[in-house]
Amino acid sequence: MVAEIINGKDLAQQIKDNMKNEVTELSKKGLVPHLTVVLVGNDPASRSYVNGKKKASAATGISSEIIELPESTSEKELLDTISTLNNSSAVHGILVQLPLPEHIAEQKVIEHIDPKKDVDGFHPVNIGRMMAGKDTFLPCTPFGIVTMLKSKNIPIAGQHVVIIGRSNIVGKPVGQLLLNESATVTYCHSKTKDLKKFTKMADILIVAIGKANVISADFIKPGAAVIDVGVNRLDNGSLTGDVEFEEAKEVASYITPVPKGVGPMTITMLLQNTIKAAKGLKLQ
Ligand code: GUN
Repeated sequence: MVAEIINGKDLAQQIKDNMKNEVTELSKKGLVPHLTVVLVGNDPASRSYVNGKKKASAATGISSEIIELPESTSEKELLDTISTLNNSSAVHGILVQLPLPEHIAEQKVIEHIDPKKDVDGFHPVNIGRMMAGKDTFLPCTPFGIVTMLKSKNIPIAGQHVVIIGRSNIVGKPVGQLLLNESATVTYCHSKTKDLKKFTKMADILIVAIGKANVISADFIKPGAAVIDVGVNRLDNGSLTGDVEFEEAKEVASYITPVPKGVGPMTITMLLQNTIKAAKGLKLQ
């Protein structure tokens, strides 16, 4: 079997084309969705992600601004900046790029963002709403993964999803979203014994480890759908996922590449959340 490749870049473009129409309609009514991204410090990877968000916003007609704060910014100064954004009716979505400098408590910052503007879906109120299966801002990478699976009509209900990685940004929430879609979910992580025993059972294998090419074909059940969330830069400068793509595609039924896989979907879901924020999330 040779897997069908789920091209996240193309899918993201289709969704962005639709969003552009929606933003045009909203703009005619005087509502231009606005995203404010806060970047603290000089991490080059963070800067590159933030620029990507700005570019994608512009391409869909969403207004965005980046507030750049120095590495030396105190926690109080950052919280004050967020308070100002929370109180500004011109700002619909707020995203504080992570990771933050070590002297700032990340969780405190996340919890300071108004849940109605939390387009990352990281605030405990929104995590709780997601767990309860209520309408809310879904974390962008998990939301993108579910959208990719659905775009190919890959069955989820009753299927065994195995996730490697338990981060708050990807692993934990993607399991929850797929549980909401009636999947059977297994979480694996760095302490899991006999990882292969679990991955071999997966109908859908989601890999979010952060180490280049560590999942080879022998971890994959023939016919499984494989979602590779890893973004690893090799010494030669090229990007690669956590999955050994060339051999895995000979075993899987569907597979996401890196680049042009999950990455472009993540930004697109952020834009979708920003439109949702502009329209006003109803917390019922
Ligand atoms: N850093 C890496 N991924 C993310 C993300 O999805 N949101 C934010 N705010 N920071 C990140």
